[in-house]
Amino acid sequence: MGEKSKSRGCFGWFIALIVLAAVVLAVVYMVKSKMNKSDDDDQGGAGPVPGPPGAIDKKYADALKLALQFFDIQKSGKLVNNKIPWRGDSGLKDGSEANLDLSKGLYDAGDHIKFGFPMAFTATVLSWSILEYADQMDAVNLLDPAKESLRWTTDYFVEAHPSDNVLYVQVGDPEVDHPCWERPETMTGKRPLVKIDAETPGTEVAAETAAAMASASLVFKESDPKYSATLLRHAKQLFDFADKKRGSYSVSIPEVQKFYNSTGYGDELLWAASWLYHATEDNTYLEYVTKHGNEFARFGNPTWFSWDDKLAGTQVLLSRLLFFKKDLSGSKGLASYRGTAKAVMCGLLPKSPTATASRSKSGLVIVSDWNSLQQSVSAAFLASLFSDYMLTSRIHKISCNGKIFKATELRDFAKIQADYILGKNPMGMSFVVGYGDKYPEYIHHRGASIPADATTGCLDGFKYFNSTKRNPNVAYGALVGGPYLNETFSDVRTNVRQNEPTTYNNALLVGLLSSLVTTSSALQSLK
Ligand SMILES: *[C@@H]1O[C@H](CO)[C@@H](O)[C@H](O)[C@H]1NC(C)=O
Ligand SMILES: *[C@@H]1O[C@H](CO)[C@@H](O)[C@H](O)[C@H]1NC(C)=O
Ligand SMILES: *[C@@H]1O[C@H](CO)[C@@H](O)[C@H](O)[C@H]1NC(C)=O
Repeated sequence: MGEKSKSRGCFGWFIALIVLAAVVLAVVYMVKSKMNKSDDDDQGGAGPVPGPPGAIDKKYADALKLALQFFDIQKSGKLVNNKIPWRGDSGLKDGSEANLDLSKGLYDAGDHIKFGFPMAFTATVLSWSILEYADQMDAVNLLDPAKESLRWTTDYFVEAHPSDNVLYVQVGDPEVDHPCWERPETMTGKRPLVKIDAETPGTEVAAETAAAMASASLVFKESDPKYSATLLRHAKQLFDFADKKRGSYSVSIPEVQKFYNSTGYGDELLWAASWLYHATEDNTYLEYVTKHGNEFARFGNPTWFSWDDKLAGTQVLLSRLLFFKKDLSGSKGLASYRGTAKAVMCGLLPKSPTATASRSKSGLVIVSDWNSLQQSVSAAFLASLFSDYMLTSRIHKISCNGKIFKATELRDFAKIQADYILGKNPMGMSFVVGYGDKYPEYIHHRGASIPADATTGCLDGFKYFNSTKRNPNVAYGALVGGPYLNETFSDVRTNVRQNEPTTYNNALLVGLLSSLVTTSSALQSLK
């Protein structure tokens, strides 16, 4: 019995081994054929789903901490827990002429205007970064500061939208502000308000503010449901206002053309509707983007993501639905967005047949010599995000005109941009103030260039502008405009093209660094 049973046991193992081998072979075959089939990236491939955030990359974590700190430097209003020694309260009476409290919000750049259009874009990008990469930010204890800076901005937008069809889109007048060189704490000039309403429409700025509030409503959904509901209510009203009273603010308020001229509002309408769909899951917003796609989305044409043009961002955001929402997988309307997002990605991959020529010798994307890093950072953020969408849905390859690339090559591209910005470049310097051994020390920034204890008026502050000494205050975390296409950079205070930081560049940098801060690239937050 013992023997018999033993021999049957042996045979049993033999059978089991054969079955196991057959299964292994079959699986290997299936995986192989599936991978070949999914050369084009529309099918989920096989392979590991990336897990929660992995090891922290200190380089990116340090840079992210700095990048977020720049928002503290730009804050207007009565500061709370201020950690910047040379900053204090400012703009406390902003909005008072309309009986509104517009004291919060962010100064745009090296000046003290609160420009609503780029500020709203800054908030939307910050929300998006938090929604996709909250786990990564949390892993390096930076989630709370990111949410806090976002809220400082959305608090301002709540006040700036006192009734359905009224939105204040600017505090301060550049014609008054720019001829002065003074600290925000001691500003003396008038702070007039600019608003849009039913008679003076501003579709792009209303829609971008709707996008900011809709995306932020998702950020605060769990931690502060009441605030989240308030933001969503404003977002819906603003979208209706933007859509029903169509008109560009650049036309209704021509003064804005000199600073943040808008080249069209179709992109903001699609962007806002996309965010509202994510925030509400109300199909009318999804129908809006599919219905108006041909009109506004410029399908098939890759574009650069910027404060003026949200198409590339919209295409990536809507691709997200096809990657993760099975019930939408048949949507033809969404497929055109995803196809164009893919074209954007193929333009970025350096070895792609459709690679963009807007690239410096050592690989930095540069589209314009004015504030050149805006597109380097925005392109890298979208590439890293798209790569994460692919990996999370187990799609490992992307085909560009028949040539196959790995999803991880998109992340490699993003790292090249980030590493360049942090110092791996022919100039041997970082473009983030305070990061590395060499960084810009003469940035075009009023607050940074004037000693905190100086008493200046509007004009005598120019003695600090004219000074050949480095800035007395280090604006830690400020990402400056950046190098020219020929990879030169001049660190002088008068150099507004290259040496002025902006809040929207920093928001994009926060998104990019958050995606790179841990080795794992799984998206956990916005599902
Ligand atoms: C602003 O943009 C519009 C639309 O593209 C353009 O026609 C106009 O010339 C621009 N204004 C300035 C000052 O650049
Ligand atoms: C700064 O320099 C400009 C031009 O170089 C000059 O007109 C101005 O008077 C100077 N201002 C101060 C306060 O030094
Ligand atoms: C680099 O480009 C800038 C802006 O186009 C130009 O002003 C500068 O002269 C160029 N420098 C060199 C060394 O070619």
